[in-house]
Amino acid sequence: MSDVEAQKRAVGEAAAALVEAGMVVGLGTGSTAVWFVKALGARGLEVTCVATSLATADLAASLGLKVAELGETREIDLTVDGADEIGPGLGLIKGAGGALLREKLVWEASRRCVVIADASKRVPVLGGFPLPIEVVAFGHRTTALRICDALAECDIGAAPRLRLRNGQPVRTDGGNLIYDAPCGRIEDPAALAAALKSVTGVVEHGLFLDLADEALVATPEGVLRLEP
Ligand code: 5RP
Repeated sequence: MSDVEAQKRAVGEAAAALVEAGMVVGLGTGSTAVWFVKALGARGLEVTCVATSLATADLAASLGLKVAELGETREIDLTVDGADEIGPGLGLIKGAGGALLREKLVWEASRRCVVIADASKRVPVLGGFPLPIEVVAFGHRTTALRICDALAECDIGAAPRLRLRNGQPVRTDGGNLIYDAPCGRIEDPAALAAALKSVTGVVEHGLFLDLADEALVATPEGVLRLEP
């Protein structure tokens, strides 16, 4: 196993240790979240899980975890999920896995959100990782032009790129498309979040601000616990 993979596993296991029997647990998406879900499955606790993607729901069910839809359970006690960047105040960029909409819905419905990541995800300023923006398919090229305007309002000159896989547009679990915006530096994430939300056709963006209650970040020396 590579060092990075070992770090992902370490934070996944550390996060699984936070779960108690009887909890409703939000399950993230991505390669780090997979380690959390596997470690949770291995604990054999009676919990109810709400998954942030079909892939995670399938994994959880295959491990014998009980999976419910968002809104079918009482409030989610704890959600554990990965991130693409962890910036100041635990502001995050998420969505490389294309699950940003379901992730945000689950995070916002959770009492406590813990982000797990290897050390490479920590950054002094958000924006080095292209910002995922989920849009409805109808009129998406027009929406992309309006996203450019919203970025420009925030002094970001990025041209959003439609996410493709094997030459075809990637569809999210909700059937939407994703544009990735290489912002560079996001000086005012809250202003950018508001500008993107104001564009008709934008379903959600990958800025997760004021949502993470803590972060577990793996380093070669061990797992660091960070607060906003
Ligand atoms: C999926 C996500 C993931 O949590 C994020 O991309 C991190 O993934 P990984 O742990 O594989 O680096 O936001 O939409």
